[in-house]
Amino acid sequence: MSAPDLYLPVLHGTVREGRKSIHVARFVEARLRERPGVETRLFDPREWPFGNLVAREWEQDPRPPRVAEFVDEMARADGFVIVTPEYNHGYPGTLKNMLDAVYDEWNRKPFALVGCGGVSGGLRALDALRQVVTGLGAITVPTHVPVQSVGKEFEVGGPHDPEKWTKRFARLFDELEWYARALKAAREAAPPGA
Ligand SMILES: Cc1cc2nc3c(=O)[nH]c(=O)nc-3n(C[C@H](O)[C@H](O)[C@H](O)COP(=O)(O)O)c2cc1C
Repeated sequence: MSAPDLYLPVLHGTVREGRKSIHVARFVEARLRERPGVETRLFDPREWPFGNLVAREWEQDPRPPRVAEFVDEMARADGFVIVTPEYNHGYPGTLKNMLDAVYDEWNRKPFALVGCGGVSGGLRALDALRQVVTGLGAITVPTHVPVQSVGKEFEVGGPHDPEKWTKRFARLFDELEWYARALKAAREAAPPGA
């Protein structure tokens, strides 16, 4: 297989005890990893020091090693998938704190959104997130995947109907890769801020 030319990390949105959406995030990471030319990694907020925003990464001196590692990983990324639950019609504060911790590293890159919820599949959280992503100087791809009744659809080992979800996510990944390659070429031709 050829060396990956795209790095597309998966950002998960919650640290809630008993969270179901992490099973979706793990499934997304596994399917993304199978795609030729794609490298990925799951960023679980439980493993990163962004619980409450106290300072942005460039305001920290010295910058803690885990913060520096996160910045480096986001800097080399070509696009992102966010997998988030919907809490009271919004996205979790955990996710917002993680997004707010860095800035330049998101700029002019595409985000693909996956929502997890009840009947709405997290659609209201995704709508709100589109505004936030614009604020990061980035774009969201037009497609999104709402996972309705996430607790019934996904278990620890993955979805009850893997074929259905593999197909749904494939469309989202096709689109994300298209935007990621197009914007990568554009950033290389004319670097942001140059
Ligand atoms: C604080 C809280 C608020 C919620 N609000 C919504 C909501 O607005 N819309 C919805 O569809 N589900 C809502 N739910 C149900 C969640 O979609 C469901 O619990 C789902 O499993 C959440 O993802 P998680 O398990 O990864 O935390 C809410 C759940 C919690 C814990």
